[in-house]
Amino acid sequence: MKTDVAELQLLYRAISASNNGITISDMRRAGRPLIFVNQAFTQMTGYSSEESLDRNCRFLQGSDTGQPGIQVLRDAIAAGGEATVLLRNYRKTGEPFCNELSISPVRDDSGTLTHYIGVQHDVSVREAAASEIRSLNLRQTEQALEMQVKNEALEAFSNSASHDLRAPLASIQGFASMLGRDVSLANSVRAKYYLSRINANTLHMSELIEALLNLGKTAAGTLNLVSCNVSAMATNLLASYAAGNPARVVKVRVQEGLFVMADRPLFERVMENLLSNAWKFTSKTGDAFIEVGSEIDQDGGVVLYVKDNGAGFDMAEADKLFAEFSRLHPTTEFEGTGIGLALVRRVLQRHGGAIWAHSKPEEGSTFFFRLPGSRDDAAPTS
Ligand SMILES: Cc1cc2nc3c(=O)[nH]c(=O)nc-3n(C[C@H](O)[C@H](O)[C@H](O)COP(=O)(O)O)c2cc1C
Ligand SMILES: Nc1ncnc2c1ncn2[C@@H]1O[C@H](COP(=O)(O)OP(=O)(O)OP(=O)(O)O)[C@@H](O)[C@H]1O
Ligand SMILES: [Mg+2]
Repeated sequence: MKTDVAELQLLYRAISASNNGITISDMRRAGRPLIFVNQAFTQMTGYSSEESLDRNCRFLQGSDTGQPGIQVLRDAIAAGGEATVLLRNYRKTGEPFCNELSISPVRDDSGTLTHYIGVQHDVSVREAAASEIRSLNLRQTEQALEMQVKNEALEAFSNSASHDLRAPLASIQGFASMLGRDVSLANSVRAKYYLSRINANTLHMSELIEALLNLGKTAAGTLNLVSCNVSAMATNLLASYAAGNPARVVKVRVQEGLFVMADRPLFERVMENLLSNAWKFTSKTGDAFIEVGSEIDQDGGVVLYVKDNGAGFDMAEADKLFAEFSRLHPTTEFEGTGIGLALVRRVLQRHGGAIWAHSKPEEGSTFFFRLPGSRDDAAPTS
């Protein structure tokens, strides 16, 4: 192939203008020095062409010469072949960068290896992003595994609790009621009081076991994510509480058009628990008020909330709110097993969401929660 001067100039300009570094090494000279570097190479490395020419390109490796890619290059050059490797190189400033290097041999008419052409590509940004994704994936897998282990342990514990505790509990209940029938009239008042306490406590224990079982169920099965109409769910629940307690007057406000992507049966448990708490903890409040709404957080995400003006609690105790069987009010004041919010938090976390609360004693509480895919526009899919 004959190439005239004009064509050569054109090729030279194309090589000079390339965004990739382009270099040529003379393989016939001792030390196999560089005899050409383009502008992209000098920009990438920070070394001028004067500082680069007549040196072997290994100067970019500094003292970092144990990298596997270097051996691959050595072998390729020894065999007169091509290679593409990823190398850690250092700019003149000492800053490391990730160099994707391809080398290919040039031979003369007799087949003798005379030169090598190198193409350098700075892929630091790409590699940093890939490594970030890899570590994110790893973290996510670790978290999912950790969650799975916790859920399996909880499920196993709940199942054994249900089987192993229910039988003795039933027999205590049975014997207590038999004893109740046998107690003589002479000592009946005190004995019957004790028996009623035994009954009340066994009943409470059954409720605790039931609650524990329910908590276990939130961990099982795969999530079937669908669009859930939070506004409709909240309106129905509040209407059913009002119907069951006709004596209570509670003002409610539910924002229209609230939607989340969630497993519907599990998410219903979330709304049920938050609203039943709001209903319960406003039971001693005059002008009781419950609100379900949304707001936009600093990141532009939608945060939903359930707010009441009821008994409230001390924020110093807020860390106990979501723990299993933990209660901030005595059962003599407000009934409950202390499992509702633990269940709510588990369900939201399983969905990749979160919950937190703000409160003041006697002023009321607001429970905020976030789910991936929450929206507050109207979406008539549910
Ligand atoms: C054309 C050409 C370009 C090269 N460019 C680079 C480079 O940009 N960075 C680098 O670390 N090594 C580069 N090398 C590899 C080194 O010059 C050298 O071949 C490698 O370090 C293995 O040989 P050694 O054991 O003699 O160091 C290049 C090699 C050739 C032939
Ligand atoms: N809206 C609220 N206002 C004031 N305190 C609340 C409110 N919601 C929860 N709490 C406090 O947090 C505790 C834990 O709530 P959680 O729903 O887990 O349990 P519970 O309502 O007592 O019982 P359960 O829901 O299992 O029947 C409550 O006992 C109460 O002290
Ligand atoms: Mg509750």
